Amino acid sequence: MPDKTVNQNIKPITTKISKKGNLEISGCDTVELAEKYGTPLYVMDEVTLRTIARQYKEAFGDYKKVNMMFASKALMTAQIAKILHSEGFGFDVVSGGEIYTVNKAGVDMDMTTFNGSNKTTDELLLALELGVGRISVDNFLELSLLNEVAKSFDKAQKVLLRITPGIECHTHEYIQTGHLDSKFGFDLVQIDEAVELVMNEFKNLEIMGLHAHIGSQIFETQVYYDEIGVLLKELKRINDKFNLNLNEINIGGGLGITYTEADCPPSVFEIADVIKKSIKDHCEMYDLDEPLLYIEPGRSIVGTAGVTLYTIGSSKQVPNGRRYVAVDGGMADNPRPSMYGAKYEAVIANKKEDSKPQKVTVAGRFCESGDILIKDIELNSPTAGDILCVFNTGAYGYSMSSNYNRVLKPEMVLVNNSQSDIIVKRETYQQLIQNDVIL
Ligand code: LLP
Repeated sequence: MPDKTVNQNIKPITTKISKKGNLEISGCDTVELAEKYGTPLYVMDEVTLRTIARQYKEAFGDYKKVNMMFASKALMTAQIAKILHSEGFGFDVVSGGEIYTVNKAGVDMDMTTFNGSNKTTDELLLALELGVGRISVDNFLELSLLNEVAKSFDKAQKVLLRITPGIECHTHEYIQTGHLDSKFGFDLVQIDEAVELVMNEFKNLEIMGLHAHIGSQIFETQVYYDEIGVLLKELKRINDKFNLNLNEINIGGGLGITYTEADCPPSVFEIADVIKKSIKDHCEMYDLDEPLLYIEPGRSIVGTAGVTLYTIGSSKQVPNGRRYVAVDGGMADNPRPSMYGAKYEAVIANKKEDSKPQKVTVAGRFCESGDILIKDIELNSPTAGDILCVFNTGAYGYSMSSNYNRVLKPEMVLVNNSQSDIIVKRETYQQLIQNDVIL
């Protein structure tokens, strides 16, 4: 077992200083990457990505009935799907776009689960057409809608019922989902009605088990123990009451990563041990067979593998106040600081660590005062033309990016073994206007 797993590092695990004294990732000099591809540039390190995927596999290795489903919402591109699929991962998908992308990337569609609180008929049709493995049904409307769609394919679609387990975890309120007052899933008092409907009316649905997700960027382990307790208790109760034999639980994702030294997520092995222990304890308690377990990690798979490179431009010294340095990206390529007050670490990629650090605030380029990427960080004499490397941007950066101010979305490169390859091209102005209609 390694000392630390990938999610406990701030930097990609291949990070070094190059012979020239620049920051290097997987043998690629980041300053040269910036020169070659331009900035802002998303850089994904394949070694870090594959390492965490393997750590998850190893951590659950002795629990044979597990399906790892990468949460596509954290980062979805065809190449990322291909890499994770080659590591044995399936996919949590939440939209027609994610379903379409994983399908085009050659993913075995039986290894996908379709989640979401308001799936459209078109999306359900696509899911059935392409053969999505499980659909996590969130509410009563969806039950009847999906039943109709499945009937039109003359299929019995395998479903999980999404429940609100009533568990609060200590994370930002926008990314808490398991507490009772949540927009997601059936309340526990509604679940029997949902089961009855499927048994009596919705003959084109087959319930396999239950699904829950308690939140994101979680540092506690006890919440997973408790969540599994709720899921298995409900499974037992439903099986007894309706004479069923449901035996699948999907516990969602949520394991945190280390954005700054203040973050202390458990390792993947610690989380896996708690999950396995909770399953063992509760199966004994409720006299259940070990369930088929689905887990849906997103951030902890792709977060640490990604960095963003920016070029520093203008700066401003507020008299008797802060020094702002501006970069050529910001809230459109990474909305997390302005949305959640998220914090990041960064370094000047072209300057050795030993030069004199200065306290500055890194401002984005977008027309919005709130577009501040990093408040009060020590950087090595940041000057126009320097390359800033922001760590831990692999999750929920590109996937939440926008074209605010009609700025082009950055390119993404994959680095490995001193080689770099474009996996998402930089947008062009032509693409920006391609859907505009002039009357
Ligand atoms: N499964 C379900 C049903 C989810 O809703 C989510 C995340 C995940 C899995 C993956 O969670 P993860 O392992 O990535 O924590 N945009 C926010 C995060 C929103 C997460 C939404 N659901 C952020 O940037 O922090």
